[in-house]
Amino acid sequence: MSIISNSITKAVALLNEEQIIGIPTETVYGLAGNIYSSKAIKSIFTMKQRPLFNPLIVHIKSVNDLHEIARAVPEKALILAKAFWPGPLTLVLKKQIAIPDLVTGGKDTVAVRVPNHPLTLALLNQLAYPLAAPSANPFGCISPTTAAHVAGYFKDLLPLVLDGGACERGIESTIVGFVNGEPVVYRLGSLALEDIEAIVGPVKMITHDEIAPAAPGMFSKHYAPLTTTFLTADEMEKLKTFPQQKIGVLVLQKEIDDPKIVQQEILSSTGNLAEAASQLYAALHRLDNCHLDCIIAERFPDVGLGKTINDRLQRATKK
Ligand code: TXA
Ligand code: MG
Repeated sequence: MSIISNSITKAVALLNEEQIIGIPTETVYGLAGNIYSSKAIKSIFTMKQRPLFNPLIVHIKSVNDLHEIARAVPEKALILAKAFWPGPLTLVLKKQIAIPDLVTGGKDTVAVRVPNHPLTLALLNQLAYPLAAPSANPFGCISPTTAAHVAGYFKDLLPLVLDGGACERGIESTIVGFVNGEPVVYRLGSLALEDIEAIVGPVKMITHDEIAPAAPGMFSKHYAPLTTTFLTADEMEKLKTFPQQKIGVLVLQKEIDDPKIVQQEILSSTGNLAEAASQLYAALHRLDNCHLDCIIAERFPDVGLGKTINDRLQRATKK
């Protein structure tokens, strides 16, 4: 029997029994459990094969619940939350004492967001607790943007994947922390930097390796297909220099003609970067299933969500 279903009633029952399930969000699918159940949270880490020090994002139903999760919320955090929630923005804030260390990896901060998906919002409204949910992929693998991707990763382990269709945004949330009340971006994501800066002014970027100095390089390879992947700076002219015979390509909009190409993924025929972002992971999943010698991805324009796409492609090509 398939574990994919759209029954919120089933989802509520399983979560109340401290089990974990797959849930849809507008960004990517999550592997969700009750933040106050150590049994559920431990299952998330085990199932993902994720190191315990890498904390999870807490999903709440409304900005009104923020103060149950976080304290000393900076003014600019509240402004951003009100502007973009529900939506693909995660805020890293000082945690309330009640938030378990298991969820935050022992940190005194907590990552929190309100996801923008009708099924998951309806689910959260029927629960007496928030949901911790990392992306529903084994550590280091491509994030899932359909219920079938999640079932493909965990079919023998998960009791349910709540089917909310293909994720509208298709890339993880943008993560913003605060230093002396000023916003700092920790992870590029589905919310463009420019949209954040339009509300709160210029923001700095800090890379993941800088916030996790105890694990240098640990997180730079991420979101990776199993197939060897290259990122090329210029157009696919370089293709001719590749010795590989079965090549998959990933481009924004221009079709490339070459007999060695057996699978071609065009992310947006009109060159729309939001559309391209929404298609990126699904395209990488398809390419990875084609038994290719390699995948060659083109570098995207370095503006708006193009920056986020380039960040993920860069991580996909790291050895
Ligand atoms: O779009 C998303 O954010 C998806 C959906 C399911 O909400 N979730 C997601 O979770 O991408 P995950 O676990 O794959 O990524 C969460 C990131 C991790 O890189 C983690 O290190 C960071 O958030 N994070 C969590 N808590 C943090 C904290 N207190 N300080 C700094 N980074 C934190
Ligand atoms: Mg992830």
